[in-house]
Amino acid sequence: MKTTDNSDRSAIIVWDLPTRVFHWLLVVGFALALITSDDSRYLYAHVYGGYLFAGLLAFRFIWGAVGSRYAKFRSFAYDWPSVTAYLKGLINGQASRYIGHNPAGSWAIFAMLLLGLLVVITGLVVLGGEERHGPLNGLISFKVGKGTKEIHELLAWSMFGLVVLHLCGVILESVFHKENLIWAMITGRKEAAAGTPGAAGHHLLGVTLLFVGAASALSYFHGYLVETADSPYRPFRGPQLPDNAVWREACGECHLAYHPNLLPARSWQLMMDEQAEHFGDDLGLDEETVKEVTDFLVKNAAEAGMTEAAWEMMESIGPDEKPLSIVETKYWKHEHKEISDAYWKSEKVRAKGNCAACHLDAKEGTFEDSSMRLPDLSKSERKP
Ligand code: HEC
Ligand code: HEC
Repeated sequence: MKTTDNSDRSAIIVWDLPTRVFHWLLVVGFALALITSDDSRYLYAHVYGGYLFAGLLAFRFIWGAVGSRYAKFRSFAYDWPSVTAYLKGLINGQASRYIGHNPAGSWAIFAMLLLGLLVVITGLVVLGGEERHGPLNGLISFKVGKGTKEIHELLAWSMFGLVVLHLCGVILESVFHKENLIWAMITGRKEAAAGTPGAAGHHLLGVTLLFVGAASALSYFHGYLVETADSPYRPFRGPQLPDNAVWREACGECHLAYHPNLLPARSWQLMMDEQAEHFGDDLGLDEETVKEVTDFLVKNAAEAGMTEAAWEMMESIGPDEKPLSIVETKYWKHEHKEISDAYWKSEKVRAKGNCAACHLDAKEGTFEDSSMRLPDLSKSERKP
């Protein structure tokens, strides 16, 4: 709704409480997802940000249809000529003031809602395909999941670009009409000419939305609040990988029993053929044990593609390569290249092969992103 300047003004409710709660929680969800997007150790928090964002979008699409006066999509569905007229007005210094969204702002909002939806959908594809989690788990291949990641990132950064544009618009309009629009999104109120209809507050629904948001965060992150040093919390527990007692006993004596999914079958075959010369040690296993362990290793090797690591490992080694050392593979080196020397030399890690020092699920072999924790180094170890 357009207004003309009028000295006879009073404050009316423009943004109902659910719309305001939606707006600020959306900021929280998006910001959380953005700042945790770079480091896969925080994937769990990233995914929460995404779920929060998705739930809020779903709410907003419903509220856009049935919400209060200025929250309804219909109330700010302007055509393109109105947008250009508004922008021209801005340049000429005489843009009209709108009580609800202005035409340019409304286009930015529809674009953000649409982009947000695409970000959520591609995020779920990546989560299901690459990480084997979420509602699409099992429906999407690793390859598609990984390929979609770049699209997901591109969309998310485009969304960020729109957010910046939206902010510029808000600041510009605030200055232009000498009214604080950010404050209006907090209080819900704006000055309007007498007689301008206000919106219903819908306070109960707004409080409920806020409560649901807080409760979802609490239930999702609750594990971190109850974790102890003895049982650190491990989010993202996927299906258990195959296990074998004979293998654990024969291969877990000197080091972690490296799960078969970490190397291809041909590597395990070679390693077991040469078990009398295992990295300088004679394992001295009898024939029966060798057979059982070899069968287990070969059957559950990286080719079976049970984890992201298995899939990545197979992608990164040539068809004729038979690596015996996990830490010498291209994939392993790539994943760990950013970890400083201080960690490898520290008392708590000591060897690269000591996966359990940093991966809480090393024993199970799943190597989930959110189960990685770099140990705290002592002061003397932190010095270069
Ligand atoms: C007698 C001790 C001993 C036993 C038992 C043993 N290993 Fe090892 N293993 C070693 C040593 C020593 C190394 C070299 C570690 C290093 O270089 O840091 C090694 C390294 C490895 C590596 C390479 C790890 C890396 O750093 O990338 C794999 C894989 C491995 N062993 C698999 C097995 C399997 C499978 C079995 C069971 C059949 C087994 N080991 C049993 C002593 C043992
Ligand atoms: C000093 C700590 C440390 C040790 C020891 C370590 N890792 Fe890691 N690992 C990490 C960190 C940190 C990351 C995450 C790197 C990143 O994404 O930026 C990682 C990433 C990975 C990943 C990729 C996970 C994913 O889904 O992105 C795999 C697989 C992995 N490590 C396997 C191993 C194996 C196998 C060993 C033992 C042979 C090992 N790591 C030893 C710290 C360690």
